[in-house]
Parts: sequence; structure tokens; C-alpha cells
Amino acid sequence: MKDHIRQLVHSALQQLVADGILPADLQPTIQVENARDKAHGDFASNIAMVLAKSAGIKPRDLAEKIQAALPADTQVSKVEIAGPGFLNFYQNHAALAQRLDAALDDSKLGVPAADPLQTIVVDLSSPNLAKEMHVGHLRSTIIGDAVARVLEFLGHKVIRQNHVGDWGTQFGMLLAYLEENPAAQQQGLSDLEEFYRQAKERFDESEDFANRARELVVQLQAGEETCLRLWRNFNEISLSHCQEVYDRLGVKLDMNDVRGESAYNEALPGIIATLQKKGLLTEDQGAQCIFMEQFKNSENAPLPLIVQKADGGYLYATTDLAAVNYRHTELKADRVLYFVDQRQALHFQMTFAAARLAGFADDNMQLEHMGFGTMNGADGRPFRTRDGGTVKLIDLLDEAEQRAYTLVKEKNPDLDETELKHIARTVGIGAVKYADLSKHRASDYSFNFDLMLSFEGNTAPYMLYAYTRVASIFRRLEQSMDDSLPGSIQLQEPAEQDLAAALARFSEVLGNLADKGTPHSLCTYLYELAGLFSSFYEQCPILAAEQEETRNSRLRLAALAGRTLRRGLDLLGIKTLERM
Ligand code: ARG
Repeated sequence: MKDHIRQLVHSALQQLVADGILPADLQPTIQVENARDKAHGDFASNIAMVLAKSAGIKPRDLAEKIQAALPADTQVSKVEIAGPGFLNFYQNHAALAQRLDAALDDSKLGVPAADPLQTIVVDLSSPNLAKEMHVGHLRSTIIGDAVARVLEFLGHKVIRQNHVGDWGTQFGMLLAYLEENPAAQQQGLSDLEEFYRQAKERFDESEDFANRARELVVQLQAGEETCLRLWRNFNEISLSHCQEVYDRLGVKLDMNDVRGESAYNEALPGIIATLQKKGLLTEDQGAQCIFMEQFKNSENAPLPLIVQKADGGYLYATTDLAAVNYRHTELKADRVLYFVDQRQALHFQMTFAAARLAGFADDNMQLEHMGFGTMNGADGRPFRTRDGGTVKLIDLLDEAEQRAYTLVKEKNPDLDETELKHIARTVGIGAVKYADLSKHRASDYSFNFDLMLSFEGNTAPYMLYAYTRVASIFRRLEQSMDDSLPGSIQLQEPAEQDLAAALARFSEVLGNLADKGTPHSLCTYLYELAGLFSSFYEQCPILAAEQEETRNSRLRLAALAGRTLRRGLDLLGIKTLERM
């Protein structure tokens, strides 16, 4: 609707330009906001105040001229001028109701496909395979998954890329440890964390071991058979641990999405050669570096992007340059979104800039680092186990389910065990995901079981419960919210109008999320929607409505609210329950 009003204002402005009232060279951004106070319309624009000065007309006078030039439109019932020159738009409720009726008949709930449709690479999860997956990769995995789902829903071609760390010096250390302890191959890898810790301990205590580890990296990189076989086997096991986490989380990722650092290994000499040819490389203490004007350290000294070490080894940045090139030439991406810790912001700024200079990406390919903050414990400090170790994801998920189990059992002691377990799983996993998704990704976030499992506030249990309330209305009627329902929507009561206006915003919310990569905006929206549904449900009797028309209309509104909640949660990667 806001876009629609923007277009109306745009044509009015063009009309005023044609009439010689406004200068021809104006290119204003037309702002349209949801009105705070519904008594003064549903949407407001301050465009007259923005343009008054350059047009040499008083804001209120200009507002009047814009109002007069607005094309007639069925979606808007009236336009008023308020205060210093605001234009207030009133939504036409009959037109709104019609739109919602159409949305009920549409499997996409009236959300149109994006325009233009793009090929979008989503770089997400990307743990380092030498270790077990940590909480740090949780955020990348679930935020990236939610954004990918929304992009797909909008019709884009989404290519998920799990850029796992499966190459580099740590693997030499692990191979050396396997060589020393052949038995560890079977037993040790069941606990990668412990395996890594022991290997690291040997590496730090023994010079010989460390040297052997370095030799083995060289052999691995040269493609020595035994090394390669052990390395492959190791990665397979590590990846299967990751897959277990993805499945538990209900994240759409599988082995086909994995394209790890090692996949770019053979491309790296070519990357260096191209950089060389373009004159972008400078040697600094034996290392090959790219220096770019805009990147300086705090002392204003030039900052290098190192792409090859003095010993010939390649780095994280080199691989990322190769990945940009691959995503451009092979995947033909229009847009690449990187869901990676905010602390890597500089790495991505430099890599993207270098990739453009080298021609690995052209101007038509957008590269966006969708950074996120650190996950802290409830105490606000980086998340750790009691003894200071890193927390394994799988343990965290176990605990979430366990706590949800206790909670649900307390509330519902009569549930049978199978259903209880199912609900606990859905609530527990949903809580972990929703708590993360509902915060702005850029801010740090405190992991707190008590808050995320609360039935009050913007939490998964609250949202899941809100959905079951809608589902129960239909269950009582022995119907489903997915049935085709008789009648049509009529918006009489304010609570109906508010709910309807929110339902009509679904598409705008998704479009915004797709642009900015911010799932919290969808959480906020669904939370508001659930609240508006509650008010509607309290104020507008459905089954007890006197007239059949009213009852039909309200049932249709309830069905659309239910479907929108379910679809919204599904796009966030959260499973719903029919009862809890
Ligand atoms: N493996 C890296 C890490 O754990 C994240 C990789 C992100 N993706 C990328 N293309 N660099 O820090």
C-alpha cells in the first residue's frame, strides 16, 4: 500500500511539473509512513514539506496542489491535509477487504513475486571442520536460512553456499595426531572437540610433532594419497556432525550446499596471476599484498590485504576472492549475501573492493556482508560453558528441548508422552531460533533460556500459542483454516480494520526483509499481528456473531491471520503446532 501511495504522489508531482508549478529537475524520495493515530488516516507523507523550499511555495499550499493533482484511486477513500502540510491518506476498506479476499485464494497469500527476479547466493553457516560446530555458527545458520527462505518465497533463485573451513594448517596438526594414534580414527572422531584439543596440546608441547604437522600440510596440499584419504574421511565425519545439527534445527542445508575452501584450491594460482596482471600486487616482506587507498589502519598507514604468504601459502582472503569469481562466472549471481560474524567486516570490505578492482565481480553483482553480533551468555559475556570451554551446539539444543519438556509437562500434565516430546522439541528448537531471529542481527545478543522459553512477550512459545488459538477456532467447527470458506470479508469494527491493515502489510514486510537481510522485522510483524488478532478475537465474536455474513467475514479474517502466522513462522524456519 505504501508503494502504491508513493506512486500516486509521484504522478501528482509529475503533473505539477508539467503545469510549471514545480521545477523539472526534482528527484525527491517520497516518504510514506504508517500513520500513528488512525483517527488521522492510515498513511502519511511529508512530501509537501520536503519540496516547499525548492518550489518556493508554502508547505500547506503545496500540499493542496499535490492533493488536487492526485489521480483518482480505488484503494484510497480520502486524502486530507494536516498540521504544517502533511498529506494523510485513508485506506478504502472495501478495496482492502477485496485484496484480502483475493489473498485467501492465493497459495502465496497475495504476495507478488519480486521484480526483478534474481539469482542470489546465500553464504551461510560455514563452520570450520577441524572442530565441532559452535554457537558462533548458530547465528549464521539460522539467520541465513530465514533470509534464504524468504528470497525463495519471493521467487528468486537462491543458491546456498556452505563455505566450510576444510583446508589449511590445522589439518596438518590433525593428520599428525591421527598418524600417532591410529586408533583415534575410530574412537576420537566421535568427539571432534576433544580430538582437536588433544592434537593442539601435542602441537604446542612437541617441536617434532609441530614439524611433522607442517610437513603433512605440504603433503596434503601436494595431493599425497594417504593424506588426502585421511583428510577426506575426517571431513566426512565432521560434516555429518554438522548435518545432524542442521536436521535438528530444521535448517534447509545439505551436503549439496557444501562448497568448502578446498574447492577453490586449484583456482588460487590463477587468482594471484590475475591480480599480478592487473598490477594490483605489491610485495611486502616477501608476502603478496593488495593496498587500496581507502583502507588505512588507526595510524593512517596503508593496510594490506595479504593474498599470498612469503612461503607461497594462500590465505582466507585469497579463497574468498576465488569464491567471488566462481559465484560471478559459474553461478551467475546477481547478488551475494554473506552471513558472517560482524568482526569480519573489514575482511569483507577489503575482499569486495579487491574483487571489483580485479574484475572478479562486475558492477551488476551486489556483494553484501550481512554481519551479526556476538552471542553472549545471560551474563553479557561471550558464551562459555561453566569451566570456560566453548559450548557445543548439540548440547545446547539438548538442553533447550529438555527445558521445554519440563515446562510443557508442568502446564499440561495429562499429555501423552509422544505428543509431549513432539511439543517439547518444537518449542525448544523454536525458542532457540526465534530468540536469535527476533533481535536485530547487527547487535550482540544474550542467550537466555528463561527469556526465550517465556510464554509472554515476543518469544517462540507466545507465537506458537497464538497460532494454536487460531487453529482451535477451526477445530471446534471441525474445519480447517485451509478450507475454502464461504462469504467475503467486510471491515466494520476498528479491530477488524486494524487486523486487516496488518495482514495487507505482509508483502511489504517480506520485501523489506529481502532487501536488508533482517529477519527480526518479520518477527516484530508477526508479534504485532498476533496481538491484533487477540484484540480482534476479544472484540469481535466469531462463532457467536449474529449475522451469517459477519460470521463468515470474521472466519475468513481469522483464516488469513492463521495462514499468515504459519507462513511467517515457516519462513523463519520455525515449525508450528496445531495444539500445545
Ligand atoms: N569459516 C569461517 C569462520 O568460521 C566463515 C566463512 C564465511 N564465509 C566466507 N565466504 N568467508 O569464520
